[in-house]
Order: sequence, then C-alpha cells, then structure tokens
Amino acid sequence: MGFSGVDAVVFGVADMQEAQRFCEDWGLHRVSVAPDRLVYATRDGGEVIVRPKDSPDLPPAIEAGNTVRQVIWGAEDEAALAESLGRLKEAGALVMGADGAPAAVDPNGLHHAFRVSRRRAVQVTPTPVNAPGNPGRIDRRSPVHDHADPIKLGHIVLFAADFAAMRDFYTRAMGFIVSDEYPGHGVFLRCKRRGEHHNVFVLNRPGKPGVNHVAFTLTDVHEVIGGGIAMAQKGWKTEIGPGRHPISSAYFWYFHNPLGPPLEYYADDDFCTEAWQAQEWTRKPELFAEWAIAGGIDGTTRRQVVAVDNSGRGHA
Ligand SMILES: [Fe+2]
Repeated sequence: MGFSGVDAVVFGVADMQEAQRFCEDWGLHRVSVAPDRLVYATRDGGEVIVRPKDSPDLPPAIEAGNTVRQVIWGAEDEAALAESLGRLKEAGALVMGADGAPAAVDPNGLHHAFRVSRRRAVQVTPTPVNAPGNPGRIDRRSPVHDHADPIKLGHIVLFAADFAAMRDFYTRAMGFIVSDEYPGHGVFLRCKRRGEHHNVFVLNRPGKPGVNHVAFTLTDVHEVIGGGIAMAQKGWKTEIGPGRHPISSAYFWYFHNPLGPPLEYYADDDFCTEAWQAQEWTRKPELFAEWAIAGGIDGTTRRQVVAVDNSGRGHA
C-alpha cells in the first residue's frame, strides 16, 4: 500500500521552445504541445508537464530560475490512495489544492498532489551479461543504442532547507521507507517496501531549499551510455556522467537542461524488499561515484570532454 511512485512532475520554465526541444531529444513521447503547456510521457505513461514559469495557476517556486513546481504521486488504486491520504491527514500535512483536490506542501514549500496512478507496467528485458562458465547472452551481440527511451520517472532529489523537518515529512507523513542514510546529511527513501532503492533523496542544505535533480529510469547501462552520447551529439551539456553510484548501484549520466535542475538517465539500481538492510554511511566522494566523468563524453570523438567538477552541487 502507500504511494507507488512519481506519476508526474510539473516544471516552470522561462523558454518553452527550448524546453520542448530538450523533451524531444531526451526521448520523451509527445502527448500535447501548446504555447503554455507541454505534456510529454515516459514509456509507462508518467508525465513531464512544462509550463511558463510565470503561469498564475502554478504553485510557487522554491528557488529562483527554472525548476520543479509540483510533484504528483501515484497510488496503485483507490484504497491505497485513501490510505496514503489518511496518513498525510493524520500527520497534519493534508491541505486543499487550488483545484479542490487533496494536496500537501513539504517543509521546503514544494507542492505535492496525489492521484490513482495513470502509469502502466512496462515489461523490459535488460541485456544479459556473459561471464566464463556462465554465459547469459549466447549467439547475440550486445546492443549499441542511438537514443534513450525513458521508461519512468524514477526519483527526485531535494535540497532540504531544514533536513530534520524534511526527513520527518517524507517518512511520517508520506510513509516512505529509509533505504540508506548519511545521518544528518542525506536520506534515500523509497515509496514501497518492495521497490526500487529510492524515489526521493533528501539532501541537507541548510536554509536553501531546492531541487538537485530529477531522474528517468532506463533499461540497462547500454541505454544510459547510448542515450547520453546521443544527447551530447545534439549539443546538450553533461553535468556529470557517465558514472556509477555505489549507493543504489545505478549507472548514471546527468545533463544540464532548460527544464530546471539537472536531469538524470540511470539504470540498474538496487531493488529492495523487506530483507533490504538500510545502512548508515559517512559522506565522501567515492560514495557519490565509484567512477564518473565530469565533462561527459563527446558525441563525435567518443572520448571524454576534459573537465573538472567544480559544480559545488554536493557530489561529495
Ligand atoms: Fe539520481
């Protein structure tokens, strides 16, 4: 029970045309395009909704510039939705949205809405791997992708102005489960006991609320690499990646974009159950990335773009 994941993310942006170009290149599926509203979908029907940042009906921004204005969480059915809304109500976190539907505002000021999920299950088959004595891929070449086709909105990462309050909101009011934690600094949270490693990661940044990134799930490492190189070929700049996170185990590649904070392609994250052992970690660079390429890979030379990570965005 509880929420099942991110159903939609609403962005407020300055340049709708650039945002549209990015959504097309990112591999999202066009649902509708209008001057004041773009709707794109992932393979499972998750929605990326883009609005002009000064739209009067948008919830307020929690930071300057292009950013996420609302997150819509899905529940599997009416009963799960009712249970989750009951938990929010009990925590004193449920308010009435502008549209008359139940909503919540987290301690950062970010607006959340809730619905029975409109996403559908997508069956994907990652490329099997070969090892001596244990070939998983026989008489078959491994793929080289020329673009990504994002499966779902996997997670959102938030800078917490008040870390303790945000941790309390997402665990107690939203009912999320701790998968891993940097005590006092960061907490990885998943919606469901049996599910992907995190749907939200809350990162301490006292007094400065914000969105660190939004992540899209791909099939496997090959799609992360092929999709990332395709974005580089189209001129989009890497924030950091490709690389691999030791915590969650995922392969990643983050891009700057005109929707807001960096957007991430990722694949092969840990799947957790009741038996998953949450751990407490001490923050250090090698836990953000086992390895990573700061400037990305140039789409023409297929070599790294020489760069130093001076982003100051908490990659340590
Ligand atoms: Fe991520």
